[in-house]
Amino acid sequence: MFSRYKKSPSRPETTGTTPQPSKAAPEPAAAEQAQVTMLRKPPQAAAAQPAPMDKERKRKERLAEIKLDLHRALLDNLNLSAIETASEKDLRAEISAIAGEVLEEKSIVLNREDRSQLNQELYDEVRGLGPLETLLNDDSVNDILVNGPHQIFVERNGRLELSDVTFKDEKHLLRIIDKIVSAVGRRVDEMNPYVDARLADGSRFNAMVPPIAVDGSLVSIRKFKKDKLGIDDLIKFGAFSEEMAAYLQAAVACRLNVIVSGGTGSGKTTTLNALSSFIDHAERILTIEDTAELQLQQVHVGRMESRPPNVEGKGEVSARDCVKNALRMRPDRIIVGETRGEEVIDMLQAMNTGHDGSMTTIHANNARDAISRLENMIAMAGIEMPIKAVRSQIASAVNLIVQASRLQDGSRRMTSITEITGMEGDVISMQEIFRFQRMGLTPDNKIIGHFTGTGVRSNYSERFRLWGYDLPPSIYEPIAAE
Ligand SMILES: Nc1ncnc2c1ncn2[C@@H]1O[C@H](COP(=O)(O)OP(=O)(O)OP(=O)(O)O)[C@@H](O)[C@H]1O
Ligand SMILES: [Mg+2]
Repeated sequence: MFSRYKKSPSRPETTGTTPQPSKAAPEPAAAEQAQVTMLRKPPQAAAAQPAPMDKERKRKERLAEIKLDLHRALLDNLNLSAIETASEKDLRAEISAIAGEVLEEKSIVLNREDRSQLNQELYDEVRGLGPLETLLNDDSVNDILVNGPHQIFVERNGRLELSDVTFKDEKHLLRIIDKIVSAVGRRVDEMNPYVDARLADGSRFNAMVPPIAVDGSLVSIRKFKKDKLGIDDLIKFGAFSEEMAAYLQAAVACRLNVIVSGGTGSGKTTTLNALSSFIDHAERILTIEDTAELQLQQVHVGRMESRPPNVEGKGEVSARDCVKNALRMRPDRIIVGETRGEEVIDMLQAMNTGHDGSMTTIHANNARDAISRLENMIAMAGIEMPIKAVRSQIASAVNLIVQASRLQDGSRRMTSITEITGMEGDVISMQEIFRFQRMGLTPDNKIIGHFTGTGVRSNYSERFRLWGYDLPPSIYEPIAAE
C-alpha cells in the first residue's frame, strides 16, 4: 500500500478559497476620473519632474545603449576563441576591465548596482544566452515563449505573463538562437527555418525563424527542472489525492500498462516521471524520448533520444526505430516520452508481448479521445486492419488511462483515472475509477473541487491483492461535496 496513504477527510484542493484582492476593472468613478485626467494637459510640475516610471524607463534605455556600445567594444577586444576555455572568474574580470575602460572613455558614471547588472548582462551575452539567461535562472519560470525580439512571455504557476525582458532587435534574437543550435550541431536559416534542440541544462528548445515566423523569430523553451516533482509534492500541490496515489502505486507496481493523456503543458511528462518512481529498482527500464526530460530514480535505466534528420535529410533515428531496437535490449519495461506517430504500433506490441508495465503519454483531452488518437495513429502508420481488430489490440494492450489537465486557473490536476475493461461488440469498454469533481469558482477565479472515487471498484483489485497491494474498498467510494 502507498506508504503515506491515510484516509484524510480534508481536501487539499479546497484551499485557496480566501478571496484575494481582485484585479478586476477599476471602480466606475475611478475610471471616469482617469479619463478626465487623460484629457487634460499634464500639470507643469509633472512635466518638469518626470514620473518615477518614466525615469526608470529612461535609465533602462540608457543602460541598453551603453550595453550595446560595450558589447561591440568587447567583441573587438576579446579573443573570441579564448572565451570558451577561459574560467568564469577570468572572463568576468576581463569583461569588467574592458567595460570600465569604455565607460571611462565615454565619461559615463554608473552606480554600483547598475555597473554590476551591466557586467552580468555582458557576461550573459558573451558566455550565455543573453537576455534569456535571467529567465533561465529564475526558478519560478516554467516556460519561456518568445514572440519576436520585443515580446517574451513566461509561464509561472500555470499562467502566462509578459516579462520585461526583451532582445535589442531581431538580429540579436537570431544571434542567440544561432548560438543555441550551433552548439548542438544544427543550423537554422531561411532554408531550415525551424529547429528542435536541447539547452546545456537539459531544457527543451524549439525555434522558428522568419520568413515562416512572420513577426520575428518564435522561440519556445520548456525549462528543465532539476528537482522533478515527486508523488508527495504532487499530492501537496493538489494534483491528485492520497487515495489516487495509493491506487497508482498498486497499478504501476503490478505492471499495468499506463497511458498518461493530456493537453500541451498539462503535466504529462511530470506525471509519467512521478509514476515511474513506483517501479521496482530491480527492473530494467528503457526510456525513449524526443528530448530527454525524464529523470528516473531507478538504478537500471537505459535512456534513448530520437534524432531528426540532418540538413541533408539524413541520419534520422525515429522514435519507432528506438522502440523497435529497445525490444531487442531485454527491457522489463519501456517508457516512451510521447507517442505521436507510427511508433504506436511497436509500443502497443511491446505492451501486448511481455513488457507489461510500459508507459507513455499522448496528446488527448479525455480517455475516449486518447483511444481515438491511438486508432488514428495506427491508421496513419499505414496498418490496414479492420477497426474492430485495431480496437481489440488497443483494449488488450492498454490497462489504464490517466488524464492530466491544466485547468483555467492555471492549476494542473489529474482529472480522471480510467480503466480499460475490454470490448463490448465493436466498442472498447472502460470505467472511470477516480475523478476531479469541480464545484465552482472562488471570487478570484480559483477552481473549487475535490478528488473522489466513482464508487466503481478496480477491475484489478484481485491482482493488486495477490501482488501485496491490498487496497481497502473504501478508497473507491464517492466523496460528497463538503
Ligand atoms: N501538478 C503540478 N503542479 C505544479 N506544476 C506542475 C504540475 N505538473 C507539472 N507542472 C509543471 O508544469 C510544466 C509542464 O509540465 P510537463 O512538462 O509535465 O507537461 P507536458 O504535458 O509533458 O507538456 P508538453 O505537452 O509540452 O510535453 C513543468 O514545468 C512542470 O514542472
Ligand atoms: Mg511532455
